[in-house]
Amino acid sequence: MIYFDNSATTFPKPRTVRDAVSSALSGYANPGRGGHSFSMAAAEEIYSARKAAAEFFDSHKPENVIFTLNCTAAINTVIKGILKSGDHVVVSELEHNSVMRPLEKLTHRGITMTAARVYPCDDDKTIESFRSSINAATRLIICTHASNVWGIRLPVERISALAHEYGIPILVDAAQSAGVIPISIRKSGIDFLCAAGHKGLYGPMGTGMLIVGGDIVPDSLTEGGTGSSSISFSQPEELPDRLESGTPNVAGVAGLRAGIGFVKRNKPENISKHEFVLIKRLYKELSKIDGIKLYMPEPEPEFFVPVLSFNIKDSDSEAVGQELGRRGIAVRAGLHCSPAAHRAAGTLDRGAVRVSPSFFNKPVEIDRLVYTIKKCSSVM
Ligand code: ALA
Repeated sequence: MIYFDNSATTFPKPRTVRDAVSSALSGYANPGRGGHSFSMAAAEEIYSARKAAAEFFDSHKPENVIFTLNCTAAINTVIKGILKSGDHVVVSELEHNSVMRPLEKLTHRGITMTAARVYPCDDDKTIESFRSSINAATRLIICTHASNVWGIRLPVERISALAHEYGIPILVDAAQSAGVIPISIRKSGIDFLCAAGHKGLYGPMGTGMLIVGGDIVPDSLTEGGTGSSSISFSQPEELPDRLESGTPNVAGVAGLRAGIGFVKRNKPENISKHEFVLIKRLYKELSKIDGIKLYMPEPEPEFFVPVLSFNIKDSDSEAVGQELGRRGIAVRAGLHCSPAAHRAAGTLDRGAVRVSPSFFNKPVEIDRLVYTIKKCSSVM
């Protein structure tokens, strides 16, 4: 199987990640819960992972790195731990359901939202669109760093500056950008960075993180044992314990630390460069095939991440995805849990076929994909 579904999760995982998970399973017990060496070694592993994540995202505060089940859990923590009845939120029109569903739920509790239009390749217009969506009740701005469907990159540093001009915190969904676009929390002023551990950071599935960049700290959604202040029934106020209750995913976090190490060694800019070579090769070839619908301009790193979605004529995208799978190529078709992004591009009725390469893909695999798409196109 040729794997081009790396926006869902990167595959394969680097050997160092697999080894780290395996060593954690055989060498660690419950971190912070015991004075014995298995527990202490696990606590050191978790702290090292926090430090690695803080350094990687230039945040300088390891304790502000909260490990979560995934990016969705990190986003929910902020949305539900910050917003109150009467608050208004600005989101981009490209948000994933990880943002739209929790917000939809909160609309029943008196929260309102405005979706700001995004103009691919025109950041000035996108910024103006965010600006005009802000009102006196806006308490949070949420924007994806890069659309998981179209790869459209949002100018998060400028949106962050805009948010702070109005005294509003910003949540950035870096599910598709972490590991591909360098992110500095310190320089960008991002208040809440939410990232998946298992995509561009090459960690195991079931890992994600929230990094709190500013002074605003969400209220806890889950209370419980933290291994600290155990005499008290009250949840500790300090990070990370305030937002991390119960036994953590030690093996997953160890794998995530190894994944961050892999990305750091290879450098996000090199990973992105490699993937852009592949995606541009695909774009050029697909644009020569009759009946292929490409919805965006040729992706350039300033405005896109290396992800490409297309359709064949008027065919149902799921049918095309299945046909590619039958012929040995893994892609993701349909709505990608992002109906908002499909609505914005006019593909809500049939979705699209998404190709998302990783550092492990090779040009020859793109050639095989193009060949296979041509074959599918001739029978669709
Ligand atoms: N959100 C992931 C994707 O885009 C799973 O496929």
